Amino acid sequence: MPPSLLVPENDPSVLFTTAGMQQFKRFYLKPDLAPAKKVITIQPCFRTSDIDEVGDKSHLTLFEMLGNFTFGFTESERGSTRIATRIDADKNQPYFKKEAIEMAWEFLTDEKWLGLDKKNLSATFFEGNGVLTRDDQSEEILKTLTGLEKIEAQDQDENFWGPTGLEGPCGPTVEFHYDGLEVWNLVFNEYYFAENNYQPLEYKGVDTGAGLERLLVIINKLDDVYQTDILNPLVNIVAQSGIKNSRDQRIVADHIKAAIFAIADGVMPSNKDAGYVVRRLIRRSMIISGDASLDLFAKLIQGTIEIYGSDYPHVKTVDLSIINNEVNRWQPIKIKGEKIIDSWAASGENITGKMAFDLYQSHGFPIELTKELARQRQIEINEEDFWKEFESHKEISRAGVEGKFKGGLAGHSEIETRYHTAAHLLLQALRDLLGEKIFQRGSNITPERMRFDFSCPRALTEEELAEVEAKVNEKITEGLPVGCEEMTQAEAQKKGAVGIFKERYGEKVKIYTIGHCDKPYSMEFCGGPHVENTKEIGQLKIIKEQSAGAGIRRIRAVLK
Ligand code: SER
Repeated sequence: MPPSLLVPENDPSVLFTTAGMQQFKRFYLKPDLAPAKKVITIQPCFRTSDIDEVGDKSHLTLFEMLGNFTFGFTESERGSTRIATRIDADKNQPYFKKEAIEMAWEFLTDEKWLGLDKKNLSATFFEGNGVLTRDDQSEEILKTLTGLEKIEAQDQDENFWGPTGLEGPCGPTVEFHYDGLEVWNLVFNEYYFAENNYQPLEYKGVDTGAGLERLLVIINKLDDVYQTDILNPLVNIVAQSGIKNSRDQRIVADHIKAAIFAIADGVMPSNKDAGYVVRRLIRRSMIISGDASLDLFAKLIQGTIEIYGSDYPHVKTVDLSIINNEVNRWQPIKIKGEKIIDSWAASGENITGKMAFDLYQSHGFPIELTKELARQRQIEINEEDFWKEFESHKEISRAGVEGKFKGGLAGHSEIETRYHTAAHLLLQALRDLLGEKIFQRGSNITPERMRFDFSCPRALTEEELAEVEAKVNEKITEGLPVGCEEMTQAEAQKKGAVGIFKERYGEKVKIYTIGHCDKPYSMEFCGGPHVENTKEIGQLKIIKEQSAGAGIRRIRAVLK
């Protein structure tokens, strides 16, 4: 199956897709929803948890995870005595520990596949704790693998995975290591964790993940992931820009590449959530690369497109203007921040948590940057206190956010339905004019007006706005029929439907079309409701166009 977006759909408990299983979470509960019993993917994964390790031998913000998955296994499926053979494995049958472990071993060691030297491989399994039982089954299976000599039991920290976010499937793992480096994690989802409780799952499943970059290190006998053909060219670009320290070179290569992938999936740098993470990656890179930033980032975009453009064509949609915006926006902040930190350094003051938090709150200085600047000036910073301040502030603002969501829930009056269909026309008209890089980033409809946010690195001109408005009204006047069809996401994508807030793969999605079915004008993933014919909409008037954050524009419009 194709990978999912880097921003998980329908899972507000996580900011990014951190693992291949993210898009399949609910198939472990309801295997019938899955498009197949067995799936493989190559999933770009975005992890901020390892950010302090980035630049060492094996950690990256963005990496590609190779995974195999299966859903809906029950013991009876296997039968009590019959043991699955590779012939069974070819059928559309769910599998479990035995098959997963044997397949992993075969793939790692067989000459047909990776052909790794068995002597360098070791495996670990879950030793259990007071609540969760020891994974004896996996231990027994590991012992049957020929040539595997080192098998070790480890605790929950090491050999138990999940859930992602606050709840979800999870279970004991078997990990394979090569010379001590973890290369493949097999997760046996046997439990569902929610409200502090592990419930056994009715259906069991497998979720595995192997880091592509780490496998390349082993196969090509390299020292670290930054030497692989997918990172080395980027590190070289950074080195040529004059950055001397090799860890700094790697951090910039990693961060800008990760930012490019996130932007390509529609995450614009901003002041909140995933967008804020992207902004921080760019800002940290700017602190390291100083005046060379813009030229360097342009080359890194080019380099990333050269490496990834054919496998991930959407990275080609990232252009420099978004990063350019960030650089411009950052300059005055940086100058102010440096001045403040310089004055602290001059007076020999160390940075307290409160000082760092004020810098963050009033000047948008993330802690990593304050740390970076403090490091350059050799002053201490109390990071622990910073996080305490940060947490207590978050509690306060979360209450605010919840209030906002409640107030923003859309009703579906007739007028709101008209606005809703108009929003589809507006998106298509914007895409007609500005290209397929334009995605909807949000909307808010009341009976009085609509607000429509979309990704776009610059303001629209008067003429462009007039053209968009005219196009929408033209489509309204044409009296186009509005239809709704259910299809799988893959079919919808093949037909060219637009929508960044996608459903999970495999599930049927609703696609609203506007226009005649053989060649609709607009096609969008959407839950509805909509008018039946565009004539019902009335006339659209664009009132205003303005910024709604970096790389996001907002149109306010009314219907008459
Ligand atoms: N979900 C597991 C991991 O991220 C295995 O894919 O390691």
